[in-house]
Amino acid sequence: MLNLQIPHATTLSALRARVRSWREDRMTIGFVPTMGALHEGHLALVRLAKAHCDKVVTSIFVNPEQFSPQEDLDTYPRTFIEDAQKLSAEKCDLIYAPETHEVYPDGFATRIQMGGPAEGLESVDRPHFFGGVATVVAKLLNQVRPDVAVFGEKDYQQLLVVRQLARDLDLGVDIIGGEIVREPDGLAMSSRNVYLSDEERGRAAELNVILAGLASEVSAGTPIEEAVSSARRAAQTTFDAVDYIAVRCARTLAPIDSATLDRPARVLGAVRLGVTRLIDNRAASAPRI
Ligand code: PAF
Repeated sequence: MLNLQIPHATTLSALRARVRSWREDRMTIGFVPTMGALHEGHLALVRLAKAHCDKVVTSIFVNPEQFSPQEDLDTYPRTFIEDAQKLSAEKCDLIYAPETHEVYPDGFATRIQMGGPAEGLESVDRPHFFGGVATVVAKLLNQVRPDVAVFGEKDYQQLLVVRQLARDLDLGVDIIGGEIVREPDGLAMSSRNVYLSDEERGRAAELNVILAGLASEVSAGTPIEEAVSSARRAAQTTFDAVDYIAVRCARTLAPIDSATLDRPARVLGAVRLGVTRLIDNRAASAPRI
């Protein structure tokens, strides 16, 4: 048994017992699902959940269902003791760190298939991803039954997919988005940034620069196609590969068919540096006329 400064549950029954006692005391519950390897971006989500609710549960579960066989499930950073210390400093009320069989017991045979905002972008290179995310998020939300759940805008497409999931399945939870937290040079914080070599880390911040430039171009009225082509060229000179650079409707992530921006939009990009895949995004707004 680990001696942590913060309560932690590894089984569904222990989680439910804790949540039940809070409910009996009429407490509201906020939930922050994570895969651990926590950084300032995650901790900001915990603070946001605390601002909305009396009690906060953070889950730490590296979900095998959202990794393809070629991806980094085995090497994904696992830093449970440090994570627990950070969550304790944030006064998180409970860590839920289930074993895989607690989430996917023997005989588990359900997988949620998402449409709408899950189509395109991440799904082109990671077709398995949102099915795995939607399945585990539905499971975790059912296990915790929070009033509010907080997801980072860093994974903007994931945030919209989870909102769609909660709406479509009547999960009865408010899904709140937390702003992206960046390193001093603008690189969006991510657990996978530890994979970057020093040389790659030097180039990584350019993704934010390129997306910020694209967001201000389209917000100023530059035709979308022209601005995206020039941002893609810039990304191709900096990164080893560019999966996508796109401007999409901020609410649905549908492609925008007008020549220039006519609605609130999101500028999104995914690029590769060595073994690391970076994603980031920025808000863009239609020019005022
Ligand atoms: O964003 C993540 O860390 C994961 O995709 C999530 C939402 C915890 C589901 O495993």
